[in-house]
Amino acid sequence: MGANLALNIAEKGFPLAVYNRTYSVTQKFFANAGDLASQLTPTETLKEFVSSIKPPRNIILMVPAGGVVDAQIEALRPLLDKDDMIIDAGNANFDDTNRRAENAQNNVEMFLGIGVSGGEVGARNGPSIMGGGDRPAWDRMAPVLEAISAKFEGQPCATYMGEAGAGHYVKMVHNGIEYADMQMIAEVYGIMRDGFAMGASEIGDVFSKWNDGPLQSYLIEISAEVAKAVDEKTGKPMLDVILDSAGQKGTGRWTAIEALHRASPVTAIDAAVAARNLSSRLSERKTGEDIFGAAPQSINRDELSLDVLEQALLAGKVACYAQGFAMLDRASDDYGWNLPLPEIAEVWREGCIIRSAMLDDMATALKKDADQNLMFANAFAERMKATHGGLRKVVAVAATYGTPVPALSAALSYFDTMRTARGTANMIQGQRDYFGAHSFGRLDQEGAHHGPWALGTI
Ligand code: 6PG
Repeated sequence: MGANLALNIAEKGFPLAVYNRTYSVTQKFFANAGDLASQLTPTETLKEFVSSIKPPRNIILMVPAGGVVDAQIEALRPLLDKDDMIIDAGNANFDDTNRRAENAQNNVEMFLGIGVSGGEVGARNGPSIMGGGDRPAWDRMAPVLEAISAKFEGQPCATYMGEAGAGHYVKMVHNGIEYADMQMIAEVYGIMRDGFAMGASEIGDVFSKWNDGPLQSYLIEISAEVAKAVDEKTGKPMLDVILDSAGQKGTGRWTAIEALHRASPVTAIDAAVAARNLSSRLSERKTGEDIFGAAPQSINRDELSLDVLEQALLAGKVACYAQGFAMLDRASDDYGWNLPLPEIAEVWREGCIIRSAMLDDMATALKKDADQNLMFANAFAERMKATHGGLRKVVAVAATYGTPVPALSAALSYFDTMRTARGTANMIQGQRDYFGAHSFGRLDQEGAHHGPWALGTI
């Protein structure tokens, strides 16, 4: 990704020095850079790298998140001058970015943490960039970051999110949404494969068709491509030879954990993280199937149609984004970041993995009222009214047949909870007061109250 980002920067007319700890990698990169080589200075040592840049320097780090970033900063620091800037463009944990930003204040360098989304291709052709750090640092880098970013109707998808770790925080939530979006697509794929006995390429055609409608998104588009691809070795559909055990680098898990701290549930993301974890328990799942038997495979097509599956994905997606934006709203208050929610939706419209047709409408809705749950904004309330029946149907039928749809179920429960004015927490409060005298509020009176079960009265 670092190589692609460097080529993108060079292509936009910014000369840059490049360094990789393995010099042969740098040499190979330079040799393959074609016309862009004239913009690039390959360097062999960190010292040579730093001294080949005119101060004040802007140094972009693209290394694996975690200790490697700290080690790289430590190695660079003695070589830097005042006003040089380090920009961490990896998938850093926002807590680490907060700490690094604070450390930078005690040292010479300026520091920016930028979330960069779009994978390898995005890095080369235009990623979505979420920046965090001191505003002057962002302003200094903005011309480069805006130039290399994806554009939505000419508008750069590179935006300042707030102080310190704000950019990496937004990127983390982006990734959480990415997990949920991917999981819901996988669940619907499962219904088509197992329930409808559809072949992979036929499923690919369905995704392609959906990609021409309201579900239009990068993830639906690539799901179609993935489903239609054929394995050169066996001639079988690629999907039929890929192990059903999903990897993860941790950003989805961070989102789920952080959401618990913020008391802002992201249940579809939680379900997606759990589903990835359970996917890796291959032999355990095999044992489960041996004991209980496989779930009945064929779903009666009269019970469920492809249109209903499309509706379910639409509703699930809105609920999942609503959770993500609600979490960002809460984090903005808790951390004092003043996160620009409409601009976050805007910066995700192009370049990033979760880009989709819906994000422009989300930006419009959030501009009107950023604090409101996205499901309640007019455009999305209408969409939920039109599609939650489909989501309900899919979850109900899947449950009847024993097909796991954890993220879609979580999205539906979230929707149902958020449209239930009188829930059942009165029972929880009664229980808490019973065993712990924790008190409860009453419908008809202010203040804290106890029930007749209070110590000494029962
Ligand atoms: C992106 C992606 C990118 C990546 C992550 C997630 O926005 O470009 O989110 O950051 O795919 O590494 O990967 P895992 O699925 O391995 O957690």
